[in-house]
Amino acid sequence: MAPRFEARIRIRSDADIVAARRQGRALAEQMGFSSTDVTVIATAISEVARNIVQYAREGEVVVSATREDGRDGLTIVARDQGPGIADVVKAMQPGYSTANSLGLGLPGARRLMDDFEISSRVGEGTTVTMTKWQR
Ligand SMILES: Nc1ncnc2c1ncn2[C@@H]1O[C@H](COP(=O)(O)OP(=O)(O)OP(=O)(O)O)[C@@H](O)[C@H]1O
Ligand SMILES: [Mg+2]
Repeated sequence: MAPRFEARIRIRSDADIVAARRQGRALAEQMGFSSTDVTVIATAISEVARNIVQYAREGEVVVSATREDGRDGLTIVARDQGPGIADVVKAMQPGYSTANSLGLGLPGARRLMDDFEISSRVGEGTTVTMTKWQR
């Protein structure tokens, strides 16, 4: 999967979440995604970027245009070197939250995007990679 366009946004504040969301939206529009998909992509970015600020304090979001088997896709990578997640299976369950929040961020993002992958190691950090493919 070779990226043809890439924007890297450092995440450490709410303003950075807005910036990442805006970059994702701009790329999605440029790639010709439907307005529904543009919103879906922006929402998924918000959730993973918000988790970075909330649980890891800082990290980065990379949005890129990718092409695989003749299909165009928009890939979002959110990574941090925060505390990591002890039980990823649990964290992916709707309603699971260590912050007394709704616990819908990660399962919501997985549902919204086509491909979703999370890898996390306690003490090392978390990486979420997700892609929306063009129809
Ligand atoms: N980047 C991260 N680093 C460390 N822990 C994380 C990270 N992202 C998520 N988690 C853990 O996974 C749990 C579930 O995350 P999720 O985003 O689904 O729900 P939430 O953030 O608790 O609530 P919501 O997003 O609905 O406000 C979090 O409560 C937290 O314990
Ligand atoms: Mg969350």
